[in-house]
Amino acid sequence: MQIILLGAPGAGKGTQAQFISKHLNIPQISTGDMLRAAVANKTELGLKAKDLMEKGDLVPDGLILDLVQNRISEADCSNGFLFDGFPRTLEQANALKDREVKIDCVIEIMVDDDEIIERMSGRRVHPASGRTYHIKHNPPKQNNIDNETGEALIQRPDDNEETVKKRLSIYHEQTYPLFEFYKGLSSKKLPTNYVEINGIGGIDDIQLQIINNIEKLR
Ligand code: AP5
Ligand code: MG
Repeated sequence: MQIILLGAPGAGKGTQAQFISKHLNIPQISTGDMLRAAVANKTELGLKAKDLMEKGDLVPDGLILDLVQNRISEADCSNGFLFDGFPRTLEQANALKDREVKIDCVIEIMVDDDEIIERMSGRRVHPASGRTYHIKHNPPKQNNIDNETGEALIQRPDDNEETVKKRLSIYHEQTYPLFEFYKGLSSKKLPTNYVEINGIGGIDDIQLQIINNIEKLR
């Protein structure tokens, strides 16, 4: 299956993507994680993206589209993939459509802005894998330590309140229109299913709702 996970920053895309990817045995393609790896490795892309990401701005569409096009042509994507954080502008969504990349299902995770600000302040991540925790809602077994590798967790530099507010405002302006785009698309030629999930509640309950919806389509 080829799936898009849509939702505001902090809606739980990364958290749920880990489960879906395991369940369907398809790779999670997080443009945010790929960009953070590029920044850490100081590649040409990373040098261009670093300041934009730290300020909460989007990285230019052309750079993102090249990154994604290269990634989906890799062998592990032959049975499908899960986009997490892509597309997030109409230009990116239209480019996918123009390149005839089939999308079986778009899953929207809905969470209010107020809840998101609280979530981000407690988020901790394992930078190498992108594994995500929350100090209260999804704590690691050992304080500040990744469950699988035993390595230290960090706070993302774009998770301070001011930058989160900016990311939310960019999301409402540039990414929110994708909901209408994909709802419209699902009724036309390309058969894209559209699923809305309430992202407030227990992580396990939300996971179950998502998996149930996916299973109905298989
Ligand atoms: P990206 O990494 O994609 O960030 P984002 O979209 O802002 O989303 P987040 O990763 O912050 O949130 P999430 O929905 O994954 O939530 P999570 O599961 O972690 O992008 C970062 C930057 O890269 C962008 O700002 C931009 O600069 C650039 N970029 C990336 N893609 C781009 C693109 N396509 N085009 C242009 N630029 C791009 O959950 C959040 C917290 O909540 C965690 O602590 C988690 O444990 C907790 N949590 C999760 N679910 C629940 C729950 N149900 N209840 C309570 N807590 C929960
Ligand atoms: Mg994420």
